[in-house]
Amino acid sequence: MSVAKKEYKRVTVKSLIEMKQNGEKISMLTSYDYSMAKIVDAANVDVILVGDSASNVIAGHETTLPITLDQMIYHASSVVRAAKRALVVVDIPFGSYQSDSKEALRSAIRIMKESGGHAVKVEGGEEIQESVKRILQAGIPVMGHLGLTPQSIYKFGTYTVRAKEEAEAKKLKEDAKMLEELGCFGIVLEKIPAKLAKEVAESVSIPIIGIGAGNGVDGQVLVVHDLLGMTHEFNPRFLRRYMNLYEEMSGAISQYVDDVKSKDFPNEDEQY
Ligand code: KIV
Repeated sequence: MSVAKKEYKRVTVKSLIEMKQNGEKISMLTSYDYSMAKIVDAANVDVILVGDSASNVIAGHETTLPITLDQMIYHASSVVRAAKRALVVVDIPFGSYQSDSKEALRSAIRIMKESGGHAVKVEGGEEIQESVKRILQAGIPVMGHLGLTPQSIYKFGTYTVRAKEEAEAKKLKEDAKMLEELGCFGIVLEKIPAKLAKEVAESVSIPIIGIGAGNGVDGQVLVVHDLLGMTHEFNPRFLRRYMNLYEEMSGAISQYVDDVKSKDFPNEDEQY
């Protein structure tokens, strides 16, 4: 079913709530640098997430845990310079908000002040409610993240689907309600059963953005390198690849090497 789309010069947290009310699905994609963010923004993606997945796809770490607050601010400030339309949401990295709510607020303020991002995202529910409350009280928009929360990967042990058991599903529903009541403007639900995600989306008034959470939610988010097929070894069931950029890039770079070796590059027209 096609939905009449309102034009937004600049997407705000209010626009996202309006999109949910109007039944317009929200598109969200990661970016970590200026050049990629420029392309993503020009393609009218509603929300650019400067995800701590930069730890994996940019820095090559196995988990999202090692990335620092300074590194997140560096990535976010590059993205903010490129984003003319999208709302820029920045992950607060592991170790920068879990100790106490004052540390959480200090980290959120540094992100807002030093990167120019428009909102922050944090992982977890009831355990971090004091931090969420304090950040919101300072006037900083907060997005929640429930389900598979990669900053807790060593607690889970694996990246498999979360909340399949009743007890975990119940806690997730309660956490989503709590984040809504605190004043969060949206929640990412990662890798949970589609039926549960739909139920959560229908039970709250704020947008629910899914990744591996089915089609019954208010929007979708992917890591841009996965969508473009640059991370060719990562093949989760939820991922739709729109390109095989890994092959395209490898082919182009191999051709360049051949051209240099064979003295074909540069030719007469490519020199001064
Ligand atoms: O860091 C990230 O890219 C994320 C998305 C997977 C939602 O949190």
